[in-house]
Amino acid sequence: DARDHGQSISLKAQPGKTSFYPGRESETLGYNGSYLGPTLRVHRGDDVEVAVSNTLGEDTTVHWHGLLIPGELDGGPHQTIANGATWRPVLPIRQPAATLWYHSHAHGRTAEQVYAGLAGLMIVTDDEEKALGLPSEYGIDDIPLVLQDRQFEEGILAIPQGMMTMMHGRQGDTLVVNGTVNPFARVPRRRVRLRLLNGANARFFNLSFSDGRAFHWVASEGGLLESPVELRSLHLAPGERAEILVDFSDGRPATLETGQNASTAMMRMMSRTAGAEKEAVVRFAPQGAEASPVQIPDQLSSHAHLEASQAIRRRHFEMTMDMRQMMSGRSGSFGINGRSFDRGRIDQRIGLGDVEIWEVSSAMMVHPFHIHGVHFTVLSRNGSLPDVRDRGLRDTIVVQEPVELLVKFTQPAETLPFMYHCHILEHEDNGMMGQFSVS
Ligand code: C2O
Ligand code: CU
Ligand code: CU
Repeated sequence: DARDHGQSISLKAQPGKTSFYPGRESETLGYNGSYLGPTLRVHRGDDVEVAVSNTLGEDTTVHWHGLLIPGELDGGPHQTIANGATWRPVLPIRQPAATLWYHSHAHGRTAEQVYAGLAGLMIVTDDEEKALGLPSEYGIDDIPLVLQDRQFEEGILAIPQGMMTMMHGRQGDTLVVNGTVNPFARVPRRRVRLRLLNGANARFFNLSFSDGRAFHWVASEGGLLESPVELRSLHLAPGERAEILVDFSDGRPATLETGQNASTAMMRMMSRTAGAEKEAVVRFAPQGAEASPVQIPDQLSSHAHLEASQAIRRRHFEMTMDMRQMMSGRSGSFGINGRSFDRGRIDQRIGLGDVEIWEVSSAMMVHPFHIHGVHFTVLSRNGSLPDVRDRGLRDTIVVQEPVELLVKFTQPAETLPFMYHCHILEHEDNGMMGQFSVS
C-alpha cells in the first residue's frame, strides 16, 4: 500500500481472515484489511484529519507511537473507541521525518489485539529529508519491514496463553514480515532503504546479513541521525524502529537474518551455549541493471542539542516483577517502582517545557522502556557513556543496565495523561506502565 495519505485518513479496525499459509485461514484483526494496516504517509506541517472506526465487537484505541502531539490526541488507554463508534482526532504533524507506527493501546487487551494484527506504519516526511536524496520510492527502494513473530498450529495462527506467556511475553516460532511468512523481496541493484519496525509483542531481534555485509544506520525512532553509522549488526527491541541503507549494487542475493531471542539472562546464557543459530527474516534478490550507489551524505541532520545541565529534576523508574504474585496467577504482578498501573492515578506531574533526567532500570529481565509524547537522548548506560546503538532521538530504549535519559517535555497532557511503559505488551497489559501529566 503506497498511497500518500496527506490530509485525511480513515482507518477501520475490523476482524478478518488471513491465509498465512495457503488454504489455512486464521482469524485476525486489521485496519482497512484483514491483518496490519496501511502505511500512513504524512508530511511535516500537515494537520491530518483522521477517522478511526471500530467494528471489532470490543473496545479498542489507536495510539500514534512516536508522534509528538498533545495528550488528548495520543490514543492511549483513556481514549476508548467503543464498538460501532468513530474517533476523529486532527493530528498536527510538526516533527522531522521519521518512521513511526500506530497500534492498539486498549488496556488489558493491547497484547492480544496487536498480536492479532492491529498495527501499522506511519511515515513522516519533510523537505530537509527529501533534499538529502536518500532512497524514497516506496516499496521499490524504500521498503517498510514490520518484523513480528507468531505461533502457528497446523498453519493457523495460535494465541499462546499461560504463565510463561505472561512472563516472557507472547512469542512464536515463526517470523512474519509485513504479514507474510517466508518473505522474499526483489530490490533494484542500488542502495536501498529499509525501514525496520520491531512490531513483535516481546521478541528481540539481532539483525545482520547472511554474507556479513555492512550497512549504514541512518535513522532512529525520532528520525535521521546526525551522521550515518556503519554497522554489521543491529539490535531492535519491541517498539523500536531503525532505518538502514543497504547496498545491493553487486547484484548478489542476501538474507537479512536474526539471532536467537535474548530477553532474559537465562535465555542469553542458553543462546550463547547453543551457538550462533540464525533465522531468516527476509531474502533479498537484487535485479535489473547495476546503478552506482548514491553517496550517503556525511551529515544527515542537526539536532538542537540539549545539555544535561538544563535538567531541573531527576526521576527514578525501576521496572519490577513480583514473582510471588505471578506464580499465583494474579494480575498486577508487573509494575514500575513496585506499583502496578492504575488508570485513576497520575504517577508523575511534569511542567510543560521542562527538561528532566529519567533514570530507568530493570529487575530480572531486559525491558524496552517507552515514553509517550517525547523524544529523548541517552546520557549514560551502566554509569558510562552510551553505546553506539543508543545514538539519536529515541522514544523506546532497551534497558538491561540502568540508563539515564535526557527528556524534554514539549507536548501538553492536561486533560488526558501520557504513558510510560515496558513495550513487551504482556508486561504493559499486566501493569508495567505509569502515567504522567504535562502542564
Ligand atoms: Cu507503542 Cu504506549 O506504545
Ligand atoms: Cu507510544
Ligand atoms: Cu517488560
